[in-house]
Amino acid sequence: MQQSVPLDATLADQAAEARRRLDPAAWAYIEGGAGDELTLRANLDAWQRLPLWPRVLRPLAGGHTRTQLAGRALAHPILLAPVAFQKLAHADGEWASVLAAAAQGAGVILSTQSSVPMERVAQAALGEPGRGPLWFQLYWQADRGFNLALAQRAEAAGYEALVLTVDAPVHGARDRERRAGFALPPGISAVHLQGAPAALGDPGTFCAGLPAAAPTWDDVAWLQARTRLPVWLKGVLHPLDARQARALGVAGLVVSNHGGRTLDTLPATAQALPLVRDAVQGALPLIVDGGIRRGTDVLKAIALGASAVLIGRPVMNALAANGALGVARALRLLRDELEIAMALTGCRTLAEAGPALLSPIGNIAVDNENSSHLISPPSMGNP
Ligand code: FNR
Ligand code: LAC
Repeated sequence: MQQSVPLDATLADQAAEARRRLDPAAWAYIEGGAGDELTLRANLDAWQRLPLWPRVLRPLAGGHTRTQLAGRALAHPILLAPVAFQKLAHADGEWASVLAAAAQGAGVILSTQSSVPMERVAQAALGEPGRGPLWFQLYWQADRGFNLALAQRAEAAGYEALVLTVDAPVHGARDRERRAGFALPPGISAVHLQGAPAALGDPGTFCAGLPAAAPTWDDVAWLQARTRLPVWLKGVLHPLDARQARALGVAGLVVSNHGGRTLDTLPATAQALPLVRDAVQGALPLIVDGGIRRGTDVLKAIALGASAVLIGRPVMNALAANGALGVARALRLLRDELEIAMALTGCRTLAEAGPALLSPIGNIAVDNENSSHLISPPSMGNP
C-alpha cells in the first residue's frame, strides 16, 4: 500500500498545499500584493534572472553556512520576516513558527501585529540553545508613549533588537485582497495593539490607522535615545535614505519593499540592494527580503552584499501546510539548497560569495589562495 507523503520537496510545494487548505480570502491576503502585483513578481524574477557564475576545483572541505549578523554568530543566514496574524495559517500561529525557527537555528522578527503575545512567543525560542536572534518589529503607533511601552515590553520579554518598519505608513492598494473581501476572522487580532491610542481606529482590522502614526526620522532618533536595544529600519530602498539611516547610527537596514504589498512598481529588492550596499559602504549590516524562495536566491543576496535574508510568505505557507513541522521543513530545505548552491559555485563559506559570483566581467584579479588569475572573456578563448 502506498503511503501518502506530503508533497513538500520545495517551498513551492508547500505554497500549493497552503492554497488548497486556506480559505480563499486568507490566501488572497497572504499571497497577494499591491496593485497589479508588478513589484511582487519583480522580486521573484530579479533573483531568478541573476545568473550564478560557478568556480570549479576549489577546495570545499569544511564548508558551512555559518555567518555573522551584527556581531552575532548564525548557523545560516535565513530569518523569519515579521508576518502579521499567523493564526490565519495555523491555530498555533507565531508560537509554532518561532518554535520551528529556534529548532532550525533561524532568527525571527516577530510582528507588532502578532496574533500570539510576544511573551508566549519568546518562551518558544529562548530556551533553545541553538536558536538565532529574536527581534521585535515595531509598527509605529500614534502615541510615543505607547511605542515606548511596546519597546520596553519587548526588552523585558527577551527580544534583542527592534525593527522599525518604515515603508508602510498606509495600507497598500491591495486589489486582490479587496476583491476577495478579506477580513480578519473572529478570534484573530493584533494582540499587542489592544489599548492602542484611539487615533488608530479599530486595532482588530489589519494595518488599521497606520497613517495617523507615520513615523519620521525624528521619531527614530527619539526611540534610539530611549531603548537599550539596537534599532533597525525595515523597508529602505533608496540609497539616500540608507545614508541618512547610517548618519543616525541605526543598527542595520532591511532592504525591503514589503514583499510588493505597499506600493506597486517599486524596484525589486535585488535591484535596490547593491545601491544600498554602495551607499552604506559596509558601515551597516544589510538584510534583504522579497521573493526569496530558493537556496540560490539566498546565495545571490549574500553575493550582492546582504548579511542575511528574510522569508515572509513561505512562513505562512509552511504553517498552513504543516504547522511547526512545515516551517522547520521550509527552513531546512532552503538551507540544504543553499549548501548545494555554495558547493556548486565553489564557495566554501559565505564570505567567499561576492560580486564575482554574479558576473565575471570586470573581475580581473581574483583573490585565490595561490595566485591572481586573469579571466579572459569567453569569446577570446584561451591563450
Ligand atoms: C507581511 N510583512 C510585514 N512586514 C512587517 O514589517 N510587519 C508586518 O506585520 C508584516 N505583515 C505581513 C503579513 C503578510 C501576510 C505578509 C506576506 C507580509 C512583510 C514581510 O515582513 C516581508 O517584508 C515580505 O513578506 C517579504 O517578501 P516575501 O518573502 O513574502 O516575498
Ligand atoms: C501586511 C501588513 C500587516 O503586509 O504589514 O499585511
